[in-house]
Amino acid sequence: MKFLIINGPNLNMLGIREPSIYGAQDYPALIRFIEKSAEEAGIEVSCFQSNHEGAIVDEIQKALGVYDGIVINPAAYTHTSVAILDAVKAVSIPTVEVHLSDVSKREDFRQISYIRQACVKTYTGLGFEGYRQAILFLKEYLAK
Ligand code: DQA
Repeated sequence: MKFLIINGPNLNMLGIREPSIYGAQDYPALIRFIEKSAEEAGIEVSCFQSNHEGAIVDEIQKALGVYDGIVINPAAYTHTSVAILDAVKAVSIPTVEVHLSDVSKREDFRQISYIRQACVKTYTGLGFEGYRQAILFLKEYLAK
């Protein structure tokens, strides 16, 4: 099984960015964690990060016929992007939404997630562990 892992804007700033919310570990540490989690689960992964909405839409479109599942943390685009929602709907690839922080306990504007309606599962507030849970969930989901 092959999964595409997508991280949205400012996640490349992990470790520097608001460490009290997002933790002290940097983006390369997140990628190492994801790759190790995937290897242990016997899943092949590719990781993609972009600060640009259209680049994320392009990547989701390119996933068609290539990846079995998508794990996405759209970051701020979670709360604004109909285009990313539509891209996930267009490819119909089972997708899991992940957030490092517990968005449900944060500002009002973070309470809307456009992408959630196209996702088979959401993990929030688990830090890096959310990505591991998402990979394991997708593996089980696709095996059924
Ligand atoms: C985030 C939560 C979003 O509200 C925020 O804009 C992010 C990161 C998270 O992982 O907790 O950039 O998706």
